[in-house]
Amino acid sequence: MIIAVDGPVAAGKGTLARRIADIYGLKYLDTGALYRAVGLLLLKRGEDPANEQKAVQAAADVGEIDLTDPALRNEETGNAASKVAAIQPVRDALLEYQRNVAKAKPGAVLDGRDIGTVVCPDAPVKLFVTASAEVRAQRRFEELKAKGQNITYEAVLSDLKERDERDMGRKNAPLTQAADAHLLDTTKLDIEAALKAACQIIDASKDAS
Ligand code: CDP
Repeated sequence: MIIAVDGPVAAGKGTLARRIADIYGLKYLDTGALYRAVGLLLLKRGEDPANEQKAVQAAADVGEIDLTDPALRNEETGNAASKVAAIQPVRDALLEYQRNVAKAKPGAVLDGRDIGTVVCPDAPVKLFVTASAEVRAQRRFEELKAKGQNITYEAVLSDLKERDERDMGRKNAPLTQAADAHLLDTTKLDIEAALKAACQIIDASKDAS
């Protein structure tokens, strides 16, 4: 089974997708980490993440980044990721890897921006996870603060809005809810309540198939 989980910045996709994978015995792939790795490599190289030629080179060299590097989770890296993600040849370079993870047994939960629309358009279960910008910014702010990062709520909110606009407005695989995706608004839900709602959707889709 393949479960596609898409949504905007800090909607809680990662935590939710990881827990769903555990419950249903599936693999988990954080596709944002791939774009973050390309963005981080460009930052380390002192290059502009919007430079197409340099970004394509970095996508080819992405194995150089240690996927446990804490710098992957920085806001600066998230912003660089969203710039490289607008470049179609970068997306093409990362597509096959994502599809291979999805189709390997026993199946996988993938989270990102274009899983239900581009990477796995035939996924039997698609979730579009969202929440208000203010609630998402508060959650991301607390996450970064807990990691000891020196950042304000206002800066997180403004970064988040900028990144959402870029992700939704780009012409290549923009963030959008697939026609057959279930909307899960977590503005008023904590992680346990969101997980329960997600499992109900998944179980109902399994029963119907
Ligand atoms: O965790 P957060 O919501 O901050 O972002 P992420 O999932 O780590 O993704 C970082 C950036 O990668 C996003 O802002 C997107 O621009 C890009 N991305 C994408 O274009 N397609 C995906 N499937 C996953 C991420």
